[in-house]
Amino acid sequence: MTRYEQLAQQLREQIRTGVWQEGDKLPSLRDTVRRSGLSLMTVLSAYQLLESQGWIRSRPQSGYFVAPARVTPRYSSSPPPLLPSETVDINAFIFSVLQAGNDPGCVALGSAFPDASLFPQHQLSRSLIKVARQMPSQGSGVTLPPGCADLRRSIAQRYAARGMEVSPDEIVITSGALEALNLGLQSLTRPGDWVVVESPAFYGALQAIERHQLKAVAVATDPQQGMDLDALAQALRQYPIKACWLMSHAQNPLGGSMPAASKQRLLALLAEHGVGLVEDDVYGELYAGLAPPLPVKAWDREGRVLHCGSFSKTWPPASGLAGWRRGSRPGSFSACS
Ligand SMILES: Cc1ncc(COP(=O)(O)O)c(C=O)c1O
Repeated sequence: MTRYEQLAQQLREQIRTGVWQEGDKLPSLRDTVRRSGLSLMTVLSAYQLLESQGWIRSRPQSGYFVAPARVTPRYSSSPPPLLPSETVDINAFIFSVLQAGNDPGCVALGSAFPDASLFPQHQLSRSLIKVARQMPSQGSGVTLPPGCADLRRSIAQRYAARGMEVSPDEIVITSGALEALNLGLQSLTRPGDWVVVESPAFYGALQAIERHQLKAVAVATDPQQGMDLDALAQALRQYPIKACWLMSHAQNPLGGSMPAASKQRLLALLAEHGVGLVEDDVYGELYAGLAPPLPVKAWDREGRVLHCGSFSKTWPPASGLAGWRRGSRPGSFSACS
């Protein structure tokens, strides 16, 4: 746990036990820096983390205050720990829901794409034009798999900056994360195999399972703790599981992330049963705090995790990026060993 996470945890505990109550003003950033010996950046990150989690609120010029009592969200009906299914038949339902999004009277609250108006469009366009002018001619303009070597090297450097050793040769550029996720699932399974998915899961995972004619065991997933690992262990004992598909960070649709210790236990469980992981990390670049949390891939030493990321959720939609590399949507990638 980083220092700012430790400080946030301390403050959270103090709020939980009533040391600080609703409406109380928390010690100022400066006081906390003086008292704790931590840097201003660390203290600020801790406060911002608590604010993003709804524990405190900032008031301009006044400081940070304890937010009104949190209501812990509860499912009206908790999913069962394990839900096996020999067939997955979800496509028709998903298309009817997606179609409803075209209805002008319907607000697509489930959309996973950021609103284009939130981005500095003008600056982005200027940068893109500048880069496009500097780009060497690409001959026919078609980049064949595994994708542009420079881009794979840049992605490897982004992994390296997070302490992860992934060589450019292990990276494949795909046309969106969904393609990477599907390729990952296909490489680990054959029709009729059993796979583990989260409950609730991103609908794309269920569609992929249907398309590849797989059987699914849905394992209960909690917004704060992630997948129920005891239930996963049971599934691994009971079924000949070949692959597991999950999101360890900013899970869609729950929004929560697994604690680092759970990510390590998950990997150990999968290793014990020789099961591969398709890790959907499309929101890996979205986080509160100073550094993004590490994906399960960070602890993988044997090429068990097929890590699939994407720029499609952090670049503005329809920004003109779609045209920058003919034949592919803005960059998604999977790092496969
Ligand atoms: C959780 C999740 N995974 C994967 C995808 C697919 O990503 P891409 O648009 O890069 O194919 C999405 C898209 O909405 C998503 O929400």
